[in-house]
Amino acid sequence: MPTSNTPSVTDVAQHSTVRSSTDRVVVTGGSGFVGRAVVRSFAERGTPVTVVDHRPPRIDPDHAGLVTHVAGDLVDPAVRDAAVPEDTAGIIHLAAITSVLRSVDNPVETYTANVEVTQGLLELARRRSVGRFVLASTNAVVGDIGHGTISEALPLRPLTPYGSTKAACEMLLSGYAGAYGMATSALRFTNIYGPGMGHKDSFIPRLMRAALSGEGVEVYGDGAQSRDFVHVDDVVQAIVAAFDKQHSGNVIIGSGRSISVLELIDAVRAATGEPLPITHVPAKNGEMPAVIVDVDKARAELDYTPTVELTDGLHTVWQDFRAAAALAPAGAT
Ligand SMILES: NC(=O)c1ccc[n+]([C@@H]2O[C@H](COP(=O)([O-])OP(=O)(O)OC[C@H]3O[C@@H](n4cnc5c(N)ncnc54)[C@H](O)[C@@H]3O)[C@@H](O)[C@H]2O)c1
Repeated sequence: MPTSNTPSVTDVAQHSTVRSSTDRVVVTGGSGFVGRAVVRSFAERGTPVTVVDHRPPRIDPDHAGLVTHVAGDLVDPAVRDAAVPEDTAGIIHLAAITSVLRSVDNPVETYTANVEVTQGLLELARRRSVGRFVLASTNAVVGDIGHGTISEALPLRPLTPYGSTKAACEMLLSGYAGAYGMATSALRFTNIYGPGMGHKDSFIPRLMRAALSGEGVEVYGDGAQSRDFVHVDDVVQAIVAAFDKQHSGNVIIGSGRSISVLELIDAVRAATGEPLPITHVPAKNGEMPAVIVDVDKARAELDYTPTVELTDGLHTVWQDFRAAAALAPAGAT
């Protein structure tokens, strides 16, 4: 349960001078996988950033003077209040319950963490004249359309509490854009991969762990299910563009190229040089046969161009996993 303790607000650098500016960006979930890359990108161009997250951010020492951390749970209104200073230009809202399985087990907690927090942040933004709000949404808002191509024109038909809470957040953003003229942008990401995903249990990290340990991997069914994998650098490109262009609306952000699970495993073999033997196990009930997306709207509205080729992108993940393994104490997994 959230507490109403006063949130702690700390400059990441002990002796730094945090700039007073009206171009501050608040990044919720800025200590997470996508958040760290977003914070780095804004800090690299000299933008002051407030990270609000349970966990401390990992910041390049060169950027420490630009980054402030508000520690606490965004479900707590006092944490949200401390996280959005008056000089904020925009909010990039990444913090959420991100696990589909956890959302199925805990639908009420997911509603609170995803929908109520988004409503609370939008309202703070309105009251403090924060003009821009970018939400991390997902293609899961449209549910399963078989082998069809997912575009923004499809109706919202989520199949899990995770998807439905993101769809509800999109509706809230739309209302705040319509009623108060805020620039609210919902970016519907496909499967994101890249350095910094070592804490995740999704398929690419599992493949990397298997490659490191020399073990094999299980493939559900025949492995022909297809997915769109987008590199975190391309996701950051889209988030920064939505912010800079004061974009409003919903756009799909993916690589625009779907591959099967077996093709992904071949690409991981190429990136790692490891054999990765596979075992086929029975298919899971309800697994989507395909995720195929159209990114033309993002190209038109955000000048978005996916740039990272899959094997090159997987190589960045492999280097990250190898570096973490080299630093881990002997015997740690
Ligand atoms: N990673 C993907 O493939 C993917 C795909 C589609 C959408 N998304 C969305 O992108 C966003 C970022 O995903 P990610 O992969 O970086 O997730 P992540 O789990 O790595 O990071 C989320 C961060 O938010 C923080 N957080 C969560 N709830 C919080 C709360 N109530 N208060 C304070 N901090 C909180 C966590 O501590 C964590 O650091 C999420 O909204 C997710 O739903 C991700």
